[in-house]
Amino acid sequence: LYNSFHLSDYLGRCRETIDTALVDLFDQVDQNRRIVAAMRYAVMGNGKRLRPILCFAAAEAVNGSSGDAILPAIALELIHTYSLIHDDLPAMDNDSLRRGNPTCHIAFDEATAILAGDALLTLAFEIITDPAFSAPAPEMRLGAVRIIAQAAGYQGMVEGQMRDILAEGRRLSIDALKSSHALKTGALIRAAVETGATLAGGSPHQVKQLRQYADDIGLAFQVTDDILNVEGDPDRMGKAVGTDADRQKNTYPALLGLDASKTLANTLVSHALSSLDIFDHSADPLRAIATYIIERKR
Ligand code: IPE
Ligand code: IPE
Ligand code: MG
Ligand code: MG
Repeated sequence: LYNSFHLSDYLGRCRETIDTALVDLFDQVDQNRRIVAAMRYAVMGNGKRLRPILCFAAAEAVNGSSGDAILPAIALELIHTYSLIHDDLPAMDNDSLRRGNPTCHIAFDEATAILAGDALLTLAFEIITDPAFSAPAPEMRLGAVRIIAQAAGYQGMVEGQMRDILAEGRRLSIDALKSSHALKTGALIRAAVETGATLAGGSPHQVKQLRQYADDIGLAFQVTDDILNVEGDPDRMGKAVGTDADRQKNTYPALLGLDASKTLANTLVSHALSSLDIFDHSADPLRAIATYIIERKR
């Protein structure tokens, strides 16, 4: 479809940028400290880096560059990794494999995993406000801090995780499931797109369209995560499958079945693409990422 655009090259380049930034970050601190080792262990696993990639692609859609979005990109990957560490804890989903490795609480211990999550969350805000970077301007960063804090906290990801846990073993309505997904997964994805676009100077209209795009792909992303939990290959995914059913989680496949879930994911991506109609080729990365989100095998 986007024949002039090679998604796998693009994803590879973005991942290299973000992984280099993350390695540099951890190289600056004492590796021998247990807390640093646990933080690094979780971050350096084989993550897809989707949120940073979306941050870069959103900056490019408004004719900025990935450099405009590097600070929120790193911050969001740190926050996302913290959310995974805590999501896997025995008190939450109790998983033992993540990003192809034993989960943080298995490789270290529960107390260390809890603290590593706490430390990654706070480090995110330390990075985004780091005066060593000369750009973006402080007022722009303040806006990004607020978007990310709201998306991560009790009105966003944390609320979604709370609803996910509260709903174990009882059946949610489709609308309730949709809002739970929009919070636990959609909020950080939207923050990635929104901060990338705003820091690169996107207009209010552009940012509005990009938010709609993000909300659709955010939901499609979680629907696909739930589909992969039913029929994915655990070796490729680097995490266990069948766990949602074991824990009586509310998921689209559980409520609607696999076929209807796949149809929904497709519809969401079509809708996401239509939100990008106001953009020219600058939004091709975002277009290709939308399709990748539902076709991915990991
Ligand atoms: C998994 O996120 C958790 C969800 C929010 C669905 P990813 O699938 O982006 O995980 P990594 O970062 O690639 O490990
Ligand atoms: C994870 O959702 C959402 C967050 C970590 C915020 P899931 O529990 O469905 O994700 P996986 O399947 O463990 O990656
Ligand atoms: Mg969970
Ligand atoms: Mg989980």
